[in-house]
Amino acid sequence: MTITLTEEQLAVKAAAREFAQQSLLPGVIERDSTMTYPSEQIKAMGEMGFLGMMVSPEYGGGGMDTLSYALAMEEISKVDNSCSVIMSVNNSLICWGIEKFGNEDQKQRYLKKLATGEWIGAFCLSEPEAGSDATSQRTTAVDMGDHYILNGTKNWITSGATSSLHIVIAQTDAEKGHRGISAFLVEADTPGVTIGAKEDKLGVRASDTHTLMYNDVKVPKSNRLGEEGFGFKFAMKVLSGGRIGIASQALGIAAGAYELSLAYAQEREAFGKPIAKHQAIAFKLADMATDIEAARQLVYQSAIMKDRGENFDQASSMAKLFASQAAMKHTVEAVQIHGGYGYVKEYHVERLMRDAKITQIYEGTSEVQKIVISRNVLKGNLYTPIV
Ligand code: CAA
Repeated sequence: MTITLTEEQLAVKAAAREFAQQSLLPGVIERDSTMTYPSEQIKAMGEMGFLGMMVSPEYGGGGMDTLSYALAMEEISKVDNSCSVIMSVNNSLICWGIEKFGNEDQKQRYLKKLATGEWIGAFCLSEPEAGSDATSQRTTAVDMGDHYILNGTKNWITSGATSSLHIVIAQTDAEKGHRGISAFLVEADTPGVTIGAKEDKLGVRASDTHTLMYNDVKVPKSNRLGEEGFGFKFAMKVLSGGRIGIASQALGIAAGAYELSLAYAQEREAFGKPIAKHQAIAFKLADMATDIEAARQLVYQSAIMKDRGENFDQASSMAKLFASQAAMKHTVEAVQIHGGYGYVKEYHVERLMRDAKITQIYEGTSEVQKIVISRNVLKGNLYTPIV
């Protein structure tokens, strides 16, 4: 099956590619090594419209479809995954979550700033003891009449120190289990919000990942996102969309490593000919190309299903599971193809290999994706590709 991209979608892909090559590639190795937050690059991404791509123009966004967003994510992730994870969280978890489930007042107050990149958002679900088991929330929000008092700790929060708005998931009624979990919009400078230490990570090292502490934080009732008790379903819904973003990131990592490997293998000679002419390397390139093409189909399909208003939970989990496996497998192969050069920073593939690992972990581990997929399969929901 061929998915034909429109002229607009092709233009978005070309613009993202040019931006990544011109503006993100210079300095990407240094930012990764020194864990330097890409402030200038994120500002430019906001100006280019990459931080609120799917938000309606009336709220300052690009009004684009999910497929355009996936195409941009892929191109940016070929080069800089610290930038692309900030982009993914802001677009799919924060902006889409507020536009889809927030009320008009919340959209007016927050969405414009987030869609233009004036503000960056952080999604605060994970806790020290609630990662994959996201219903085990310990953070509490106690109803005090016109406001809630929030207490708890959130872990591994992307844009933890640089975000201006947090979406915080908290328990409002522990007896109701997941139906007693609610979502809140918390401004980062609210008294009682403390930013913990920055994580020193294997990959995506320039994005800032922190623990966040909430100590008697007063959150107005007008900042509850959706009804009380809707927080867990809200998190699951936005994560389904978020997984399309991370699948696109993984696809970009695999495709970026492939492009570098293909060029290198045609240039580098061994035993009297380019290494691409040796079957040992040519077959690696063939495997890479095949898996990347398959991952791309799954990513595009899940994006198209979301845009059509179909249930895309299973599709986005499949896309993320497959694309992240492909990214991990083929970045290891890309290092192998590059030999000794692959093991040093200058050639980029070792960074892509380190970045690939997190795509199998955040926004639901590969094992969590298999829970989602297997539950659908057991319900008889066969996955039907779009024709
Ligand atoms: N949409 C709407 N509702 C959903 C849903 C979805 N996609 N998935 C589940 N639900 C509903 C269920 O219908 C159920 O509701 P009812 O009881 O009313 O029917 C309720 O939610 C509970 O669902 P489950 O019984 O399936 O819940 P579970 O405890 O078995 O957990 C899980 C399922 C899939 C493992 C889930 O906990 C999960 O996705 N865990 C991973 C969490 C995750 O992805 N964390 C990422 C952190 S954020 C991050 O990484 C961002 C970043 O910074 C990069």
